[in-house]
Amino acid sequence: MSDTTKSVSLHKGGDQSEYPVMDGTLGPSVIDIRKLYGNTGNFTYDPGFVSTASCESKITYIDGDEGVLLHRGYGIEDLAENCDFLEVAYLLNHGELPTPDQKTKFESDITYHTMIHEQMANFYRGFRRDAHPMAIACGVTGAMSAFYHDSTDINDAHQRMIATHRIIAKMPTIAAMAYKYSVGQPFIYPRNDLNYAENFLYMTFAVPCEDYKINPIVAKALNKIFILHADHEQNASTSTVRLAGSSGANPFACIAAGVASLWGPSHGGANEAVLNMLSEIGSVDRIPEYVKKAKDKDDPFRLMGFGHRVYKNFDPRAKVLRAAAHEVLNDLGIQDEALKMAMELERIALEDEYFVERKLYPNVDFYSGIILRAMGFPVSMFTVLFALARTTGWIAQWNEMIVDPTQKIGRPRQLYTGYGPREFIALDKR
Ligand code: SDX
Repeated sequence: MSDTTKSVSLHKGGDQSEYPVMDGTLGPSVIDIRKLYGNTGNFTYDPGFVSTASCESKITYIDGDEGVLLHRGYGIEDLAENCDFLEVAYLLNHGELPTPDQKTKFESDITYHTMIHEQMANFYRGFRRDAHPMAIACGVTGAMSAFYHDSTDINDAHQRMIATHRIIAKMPTIAAMAYKYSVGQPFIYPRNDLNYAENFLYMTFAVPCEDYKINPIVAKALNKIFILHADHEQNASTSTVRLAGSSGANPFACIAAGVASLWGPSHGGANEAVLNMLSEIGSVDRIPEYVKKAKDKDDPFRLMGFGHRVYKNFDPRAKVLRAAAHEVLNDLGIQDEALKMAMELERIALEDEYFVERKLYPNVDFYSGIILRAMGFPVSMFTVLFALARTTGWIAQWNEMIVDPTQKIGRPRQLYTGYGPREFIALDKR
């Protein structure tokens, strides 16, 4: 293959075909191979899409080597420090930070969609009390398409906007109700005088018997955690949402598909897996034994919260969360053995040749669980909070895909290595 500035040539047998090189604003250029199969009769082969750009997007940019994360050009550090979550949700979905009037209008649009249809509460009672909250969140999110049919026409811009507001507004309510159901407490309705993070804390931890006082430290940290989890380019769950949406499925079904994909321990389920791992390790002196297991190819154990497909440097979100973990635990006066273990695990891993060579750094999931546990959330709710925050990014990516003129149904091909045609064998001959 020879490379010129604007195209590459592929020489196969005696044939040659040209493929244009497309440049983005930032990051790697792409080789447009849409005509490859027609020209050569060959597919590309890229399990896990390590070298594949699935779409064009303007929402989020990641530089894995430099540890950079931008949302519509703004650095994640600036957004986490200076914004509230709905400002970032507006930025992701509209492309610009809101003016004061736009912010007020967007907050009102979201606030007045936070209640869910009263009948949806019946879904929760169909689950066992010990159902994992992600199972409930996945089921109830998908069920939204049974209640909000008037915003499922993907070709109607107004319905897409209503569905966007509904899904951003109702995910905290759905998530909080999953927690309440798991602890046998009554559901708490949202309040219109609270901001996004405060409302979620209120719906999760308030009880009807007494007033609930929002802890401003916890609310500020939760707002930051939501921002840090809002969107992250074409990760597994976002790609799932886009693929589901490419068939014309309604937005609620697509977001439910994203929730399901995020649940995996290699993805959003890692925050829960980190805390489970730290409690399995149990004490600082057992860390070397587990680092050894993580390096052993014959041992399936991996250090949860370490490594990333894109970041080959510190995940910038992990840096912000690391500082926030210390701040929240200090402010709340909590001595958490898990944080001490996490710091020691990070120190050991970052000195170990195996991790250094493979550029395995702590990722967004490494510290988030420690903060969430300090706030009082059970480990089983960690990934639900991730899904709650990422819903804003998922729906922004879904909207971008729907209006993309190049968009078509996603339908990858394969390298077939199964049997060639065989004669049928009747049952009595087998
Ligand atoms: C998220 O994509 C996103 O943007 C995701 C996310 C988002 O915001 O949407 O950032 C959120 O999912 C963060 C990642 C959370 N997952 C974990 O913390 C689980 C532990 N990490 C690994 O499972 C792994 O690092 C992945 C899944 C995150 C990335 O896997 P890759 O890119 O497929 O890398 P790989 O498995 O090919 O690993 C490369 C090498 C391998 O060793 P070799 O075969 O080269 O000898 O590194 C090793 C791996 O064995 N390795 C690890 C490791 N992660 C990778 N070894 C021990 N412990 C680990 N955590």
